[in-house]
Amino acid sequence: MTDTTDFAALVDEEGGRISRRIYADPQVYDAEQENLFRRAWCFLAHESEVPNPGDYVERQLASERILVIHGKDGVIRAFLNSCRHRGMRLCRADKGNATFLRCPYHGWSYSSEGELISVFAEELYHQDNLDKANLGLIPLTQVQSYKGFIFGSWSAETPALDDYLGNMRFYLDMLVGRTPGGVEVVGPPQCWEVHTNWKFATDNFTGDNFHLYTAHGSIAELGMLPPDPMSLSFGNLIQAHKGHVLHIVPGPPIPQAQYFGVPMELRPLIEGTLSPQQAALVKDHAFCVGTVFPNLSFMQVMVQGDLHSPPTPFLSFRIWQPTGPTTTKVWSWLMVEKEASPEYRKATYEAYVRTFGPSGIFEQDDMENWEECTRMNIGAVAQRYNLHHGMALHVPADRDFPGPGNAWPGSYGERTQICFYGEWKRWLTMEEPWV
Ligand code: FES
Ligand SMILES: [Fe+2]
Repeated sequence: MTDTTDFAALVDEEGGRISRRIYADPQVYDAEQENLFRRAWCFLAHESEVPNPGDYVERQLASERILVIHGKDGVIRAFLNSCRHRGMRLCRADKGNATFLRCPYHGWSYSSEGELISVFAEELYHQDNLDKANLGLIPLTQVQSYKGFIFGSWSAETPALDDYLGNMRFYLDMLVGRTPGGVEVVGPPQCWEVHTNWKFATDNFTGDNFHLYTAHGSIAELGMLPPDPMSLSFGNLIQAHKGHVLHIVPGPPIPQAQYFGVPMELRPLIEGTLSPQQAALVKDHAFCVGTVFPNLSFMQVMVQGDLHSPPTPFLSFRIWQPTGPTTTKVWSWLMVEKEASPEYRKATYEAYVRTFGPSGIFEQDDMENWEECTRMNIGAVAQRYNLHHGMALHVPADRDFPGPGNAWPGSYGERTQICFYGEWKRWLTMEEPWV
C-alpha cells in the first residue's frame, strides 16, 4: 500500500466504520511512523523530571531513542541518543545526571549541551578530518514546552506547539494549570510493554466511558463502581481541536466529588487561577479522560484503591509509543499539584498504583481486552470486515456547552473516537491537517 489515497478508505467518519487493518497492518504501521510520528508534536518528558543541570531521561519518538537533557546553561534540549562515531546508544540508563556524556564504546564525549568535547586518540586524526563543531549530538528539529510538558517534533513544518494544541490548552489548563505552581511528576514513570496496537489504547482514552461495566465488571460487582451502569453516562464528549479529544463526567452530587475530587484546601487556588468558565467546569465534574493527538492520553479520575478506601482522585498522563504493528510501549506518570500536602500525595499515589499501571486492577482488565482485540484483527478474513464505531453519532452537538471546540451531550458514544480517527486519516494521507 504505497498510494496514500488508500488510507482514506480505512476510516469512514460518516458511517462510523473503521478498517481492522489500521490495528495490525505493517504497511499502515510504516506509514504512521513516517507520516504521523515523524511530523506531529509528541510528548517527551515533563520538566520536573529533569530539574537540575545534567539531569536526563531517555524517551522514544517514532522508532528512535531520544535523550532529553537539562544543559549546564539551563536549557532543556532533546537529541537522538546516538553517538556520532558508530551510532552507539550514548546513555543506557532510563534516567540519570551527568556533567558530560561519555560513549561506552570508544569514549567520544559530549557536553550536556550536546557538543562533542573530546575524542579518544584525537592526535591520530588529521586536523581537517575531525570537525568537532559539526559532530555534536543530533538535535530534534523542534522542541517546545507547554506548562512544563516538553514536546518534540522531527518536522520543521509542524506549526508552533501552542497552535498545534489549539483549544486543547483550555482543557489541559483545567488539569495541569489549575494552581499557581502547576503540577509535577511523582517519582519516575511506570514503563511497560503491551502486545497491542497503540490505537486500541488511544481508542479507550478518547471517549470509551461505556466499557466500564463490562470490561471492569468484576470491579463493579465488588461495589467499587456506582451500581447503576447509566450513572456514568452523563457529561460531554468534546472535540477540543482537530484530533485532541476528551470526555468530562460529573460525579455524585456531593462536595467530595466536585473539583475532580481534589482536596478542599486546593479548591480556592483553582478558583483563583483558572478563568471563571474553566473553574465552573472543574467544579461541576469528577472525571476527565482524553488524548492529545496522537498518543498522549490523560485521566483525572476518582477511584477506590480497595474495598475500604474512599474514592480518591489522581491525575495520570501516559504515552502510547508504538514499537511495532502489534506492540506498544507505555510510559505512565502520576502528577500532582506542587502545592499538594504530603498526605494527599500519599493518598493519590496509592489510589493510582492500585488501579492503573501494569499491576493496577483497572489497567489489567484494559490490557487484556486490547491484546485480544489486536490478535483478533490480524487475520486476513477478519480484515475483510470493518469495526463498528457508530454509537450516538446521530446526536446533535450541544451548542450551549461552556467550553471551546465541539461538544456532544452524554459521555457514552463514539463521536470522539471518530474525530480522532478522522485526524489520523488526514495525517496518513498527508492532507494538510492545519488548514
Ligand atoms: S560509537 Fe561512540 S565512541 Fe565509538
Ligand atoms: Fe478501562
